[in-house]
Amino acid sequence: MKQKRKIGLLSLFLVLSMLVFTACGQEKKAANSVIHVGTNAEFPPFEYIDENGEIAGFDVAVMKAIGEEMGYDVEFTNMEFKSLTASLKTGGLDAVAAGMTITEDRKQSVDFSDGYYEATQCIVVSKDSPVTAMKDLEGKKIGAQVGTTGMFRAEKVPGAKVVTFANAAETFLEFQNGGVDAVIQDFPVVAYYVAQGGNKGRLVGPK
Ligand code: ARG
Repeated sequence: MKQKRKIGLLSLFLVLSMLVFTACGQEKKAANSVIHVGTNAEFPPFEYIDENGEIAGFDVAVMKAIGEEMGYDVEFTNMEFKSLTASLKTGGLDAVAAGMTITEDRKQSVDFSDGYYEATQCIVVSKDSPVTAMKDLEGKKIGAQVGTTGMFRAEKVPGAKVVTFANAAETFLEFQNGGVDAVIQDFPVVAYYVAQGGNKGRLVGPK
């Protein structure tokens, strides 16, 4: 069966309810109060660094629109994906918007908003590769971003050697350099990478 999972703006519900509570219980917050949002801006089209060096992308636009609606500024901090939930828990961040998939495991420690995008894991292999499905990755060297659902999926492939990287860009670079046979990552990110051209990638999936 196809395994589909929703990506959520992590902890957004928590942030919203806290803000509502604050507004009712105490004096209304100043209009220039800030929501500190963590992301990992190596994940186009959800978040990336644009040509002006600014953090941009779908998640960023959504968070900014929410901030505007509520009268809050939104400030993004770019950090490693694997550090996001820890920073949220220690209070360094108010929310995370990083294309983070809602999983049962993560739900144990953080609150998610409703899902807003159906994410599916898919594969990138080189154009001349015979791979047409996950099962063909058996025994292969698979690259994945550390701590992501792509890594969790890769770890289930029998006999595969999973090599992890801090972000999607490094993972794709290693693939292009021949260090791994395939990469498992969220569909829109792989589709974006392949569509950009200038690389040997071919999209397989979503499966
Ligand atoms: N959806 C995947 C996950 O939650 C990958 C997210 C990676 N996001 C990022 N901004 N680098 O595990």
